[in-house]
Amino acid sequence: MSERREPLPLAIVISGRGSNMLAIAHACRAGQVDARVVRVIADRDTAAGLVAAGQLGLPTAVLTAAPGDRSGFESALAQDLDASGAELIVLAGFMKILSASFVARYTGRLLNIHPSLLPHYKGLHTHRRALEEGATDHGASVHFVTAELDGGPVILQSSLRVVPGETEQALSARVQRLEHRIYPQVVGWIASGRLVWRDGAPWLDGAPLTRPVLQQESAE
Ligand code: GRF
Repeated sequence: MSERREPLPLAIVISGRGSNMLAIAHACRAGQVDARVVRVIADRDTAAGLVAAGQLGLPTAVLTAAPGDRSGFESALAQDLDASGAELIVLAGFMKILSASFVARYTGRLLNIHPSLLPHYKGLHTHRRALEEGATDHGASVHFVTAELDGGPVILQSSLRVVPGETEQALSARVQRLEHRIYPQVVGWIASGRLVWRDGAPWLDGAPLTRPVLQQESAE
């Protein structure tokens, strides 16, 4: 990323509720993160997050594609992202899988949040699977996106202890509270220059990040 004095221009891509988008947007507004949301993009017009983004006065766009036309969708997405001037792209509950060529175009500038302690529980229904397997610890991970689904370098994780007998819904809600803390935090690290992508890997505070930073919750 180039030298800049302005807040980091940020685009957030969503498919649903957009609570992570809102957590990041609020952190920017509050001055906790030196970034500015220049675009909120949804791949469906029913995404509830669009309404919330509009209420905050954020510029929104809906990009839909014919079923199965991933390349058409990705062209439109790249065009919109580039026109917005975003330097960092944050996937926040975005449910499409992006192609390797799309990801390569934005290497080191594309983040995702996943509701598990990666590499555990890649894919969907993470909370249910964690409960079914009797996991004692669970949580959320923020990672750079690579061509491997949920497989890019993890930057920051937050974990909690699973409460015996808790429901999937309760666990999901507790993990989301962690998400709303760690996603703005990572965006802030990038905005302040603490976290950079260099030589194909993440660097934090001037050193290669060889393992994720882990925050453990003793009680939630
Ligand atoms: C989050 O749990 C996130 O980890 C996952 O999708 C969910 C999106 O929630 N990728 P929201 O739309 O940000 O509320």
